[in-house]
Amino acid sequence: MDEIILAIESSCDETSMSIIKNGHIEIATVTLSQIDIHKKYGGVIPEVASRNHVENITIIYEELLKKANMTINDITSIAVTYGPGLLGSLLIGVQFAKTLSFIYNKPLIKVHHIAGHIYANRLVGEFKFPLIALVVSGGHTDIIKMKKDYDFEYLGGTVDDAVGEAYDKVARIIGLPYPGGPKIDEIAKKGKHTYDLPTPMDDNTFNFSFSGLKSATINLVHNEHQRKNIIRKEDLACSFQEVAINIIVKKTIKALKKYNLKQLIVAGGVSANSFLRKRLKEECEKIDVELLIPDIKYCTDNAAMIGCAAYYAKKNGFYADLKLNAVSQEKLTTIK
Ligand code: KG4
Ligand code: ZN
Repeated sequence: MDEIILAIESSCDETSMSIIKNGHIEIATVTLSQIDIHKKYGGVIPEVASRNHVENITIIYEELLKKANMTINDITSIAVTYGPGLLGSLLIGVQFAKTLSFIYNKPLIKVHHIAGHIYANRLVGEFKFPLIALVVSGGHTDIIKMKKDYDFEYLGGTVDDAVGEAYDKVARIIGLPYPGGPKIDEIAKKGKHTYDLPTPMDDNTFNFSFSGLKSATINLVHNEHQRKNIIRKEDLACSFQEVAINIIVKKTIKALKKYNLKQLIVAGGVSANSFLRKRLKEECEKIDVELLIPDIKYCTDNAAMIGCAAYYAKKNGFYADLKLNAVSQEKLTTIK
């Protein structure tokens, strides 16, 4: 029997619902982004985000079924992101999922947000285990080894800021609007790597540190302002991006080589970055590693990825009942 999962994602500022068949076929997705609302504040305001989720979630649900040309009777399970993320935002999705599950008597599946990002790659191709999953988002920079479906072994990750967070802070200091990552990516294409910034944590571990690079970039901007020098934003964006991305690429390739793995899957908002995509493609080709990266629209938060992950979460027993609660923080490698 086909598994037709209705998935809900509301962990940050996107309200998204999707219907996914058998863990990799997208039937329909509806996503409402609140970026324009939060832009004027320079970042996501949690209370505003949850209020918007409340206002939109039922409309999205109705639109989704219409788009898919389905009724709730066609759905076999309900899945939802329960964390990590903004508690108030997560609660709206969790409550909605629990309500659907209760009223229509459908199994409820809980999905970790980062597992969702990883499984966005199932929309692109098959997983060939063992593999490395590189997770680069606003909250994570992790290198994870997967021996089989829904099995996550942490090899290393950031000890302070996530790479997306560093992108957003650096963007803000040079006056680029929220979210800064895509803007830095865009203007860096017109710049050169002329500013000297320190490569962070270039050691033998699989860990990262981006707070030093972030501070060095911010200090450089302040010093240039004090000297009344004009910052060449394109060059600074290019310099920052090359340093940040190159260390991620270097350690990811090192992990692939160390464990002699033949597939790399990339996940999270920063996987939309054009320089990261280009560099990983070059380096993976050199060592004959297959690279999977989701299409740009599945790199940032969406429910399609949650629907894909849910299929494998269900197979591994990640059911929930009406006691399911949202969690703001939880490591992917410790999920139960
Ligand atoms: O995965 P995501 O949508 O949300 C989290 O779960 O964190 O990631 C959002 C992050 C933001 O920091 C955003 O600036 C960054 O992904 N991002 C990018 C690009 N597109 C999104 N960073 C660099 N280059 C991009 N093209
Ligand atoms: Zn995300």
